[in-house]
Amino acid sequence: MAHNDKRFDPRRQHTLLNSDRLAKWDPPRFLARFGLQPGQTVLDLGSGPGFWTLPLAEIVGSTGWVWAVDGSQELLDALAARNPPPQVHLVLSELPQIALPDTSVDLAWVAFVFHEVEPPEQLTAELRRVVRADGRVAVLEWRPDAESEAGPPRAHRVRPDQVIARLQADGFVRAAQTWQDADNFLVEAFQK
Ligand SMILES: C[S@@+](CC[C@H](N)C(=O)[O-])C[C@H]1O[C@@H](n2cnc3c(N)ncnc32)[C@H](O)[C@@H]1O
Repeated sequence: MAHNDKRFDPRRQHTLLNSDRLAKWDPPRFLARFGLQPGQTVLDLGSGPGFWTLPLAEIVGSTGWVWAVDGSQELLDALAARNPPPQVHLVLSELPQIALPDTSVDLAWVAFVFHEVEPPEQLTAELRRVVRADGRVAVLEWRPDAESEAGPPRAHRVRPDQVIARLQADGFVRAAQTWQDADNFLVEAFQK
């Protein structure tokens, strides 16, 4: 498998599940902005060991469905070892292809993955394909102009306007930055 140099090293998986990260994001609180309902389907794209996957599973509940898609078997094994509930389904998939059917998810959650995947235009085309008509995509990323030293090299990062332009180019509407702090930003866009 040819990996680019932006790709997360699975040996660093402990950095994705530490208590500082949990304290910063408080995933149930952060994810509440999407108004997900029990029974809905979420794609956790580039799930890694499941920092967001398990809180997402809690929100959609036992009648919902969470696709945890990642190209690293090692990271999916780490997620499996955390005993996810039955509504979590692990998919080994090498992006930008997303091994899911058309119009199958209410939310595509893309946390700290967008900047790692090439080419981005294939990724956004795939996101457009899998999101339902009334669904949305949400991209959480590192700011290139962040002040702290946390996160990937600045040269690897993408700006919010680049993410927005990419999503718009594939037909997503109402693409906008909806949140930011000193280090990170969130872009949301809708299928219709
Ligand atoms: C920085 S980690 C973020 C993990 C998780 N979203 C989180 O926020 O905790 C990036 C993830 O994207 C996955 N990834 C990166 N490039 C990929 C590709 N081309 N195909 C599949 N997965 C990829 C990595 O294996 C890794 O799990």
